[in-house]
Amino acid sequence: MDTIKEIQHRARAAIEACQDLQRLDELRVGYLGKKGEITAQLKALASLDPEQRKAFGAAVNVARDDLALAIADRKTVLQAAALEALLLSQKVDVSLPGRGEQRGGLHPVTRAMQRAVDIFSRLGFDVATGPEVEQDYYNFAALNFPEHHPARAMHDTFYFGDGRLLRTHTSPVQIRVMEQQDPPYRVIAPGKVYRSDSDQTHTPMFHQIEGLLVGEGVSMADLKGLLHTFVNAFFERSLAMRFRPSYFPFTEPSAEVDIGWEKGGGAEPGWLEILGCGMVHPNVLRACNVDPERYSGYAFGMGVERIAMLRYGVTDLRHFYENDLQFLRQFH
Ligand code: DAH
Repeated sequence: MDTIKEIQHRARAAIEACQDLQRLDELRVGYLGKKGEITAQLKALASLDPEQRKAFGAAVNVARDDLALAIADRKTVLQAAALEALLLSQKVDVSLPGRGEQRGGLHPVTRAMQRAVDIFSRLGFDVATGPEVEQDYYNFAALNFPEHHPARAMHDTFYFGDGRLLRTHTSPVQIRVMEQQDPPYRVIAPGKVYRSDSDQTHTPMFHQIEGLLVGEGVSMADLKGLLHTFVNAFFERSLAMRFRPSYFPFTEPSAEVDIGWEKGGGAEPGWLEILGCGMVHPNVLRACNVDPERYSGYAFGMGVERIAMLRYGVTDLRHFYENDLQFLRQFH
């Protein structure tokens, strides 16, 4: 009986002092498991005489139940402590100051392009796209540039040497659209174009927006009305506009469009060129199986950097491509 009391005391002290769940389970096995000390005492019952057996057996059972309960209680305490520790380790201090947010902004060229696209969309134009790596056929031949015509040389083309080139303008998208659908057409094609040219007013990559409208009875007056509406909407003021005769292989007649612009600082207002345009040449329509006897249309192409510079008062084209954050942040 003393042995049992001794084991029970020792076990209780160990259980109550136990600090982790794994050790607690080892204690359980050590006392109550198959080969545990209490279990060993139960086995010893067999060797006692019936008189002693009853009292001894009861004492062992009491000790066993007592220890089982102590282990369960300790387990509850240790589990709660473990959870507490876990929660503490994952604590977020919501009162700490935030890291501050770094906000980006759209590039001014992107903004100007989106603004122009938005205006033309409201005028009923759909957006069309084409590849930047183009074939000679789309960039030149189908646009009525004859094989050895000097107009090709004017474009400072980047060639790949296998018949492909970087498109020098967005006009090839006209051909791609007319090839894919039947008339009428009313599309704009914004995108990047490339020319081997780099100085104060030229970058090897720049952006254009092409426009194409083909239908029955379309005239140059329609073109003029559309462009004037666009220009006034884009610059948010009523601007003078003029058509100057020009030449492009894919339009006839062709014109360049100037707007009257106040330069400020007491300077005389002057004319600034913003785009090229004209009536789609019958050869271009024919190349796309559109009957020029039935359909007519206009096309135009404008430089996005150009209109962005005017709208935002940027005086040097190169600012757009130097990635100077002090410059770019002004457009957030
Ligand atoms: N593609 C011409 C250029 O890059 C611009 C242009 C002129 C486009 C007249 C047109 C147009 O659609 O009709 O210089």
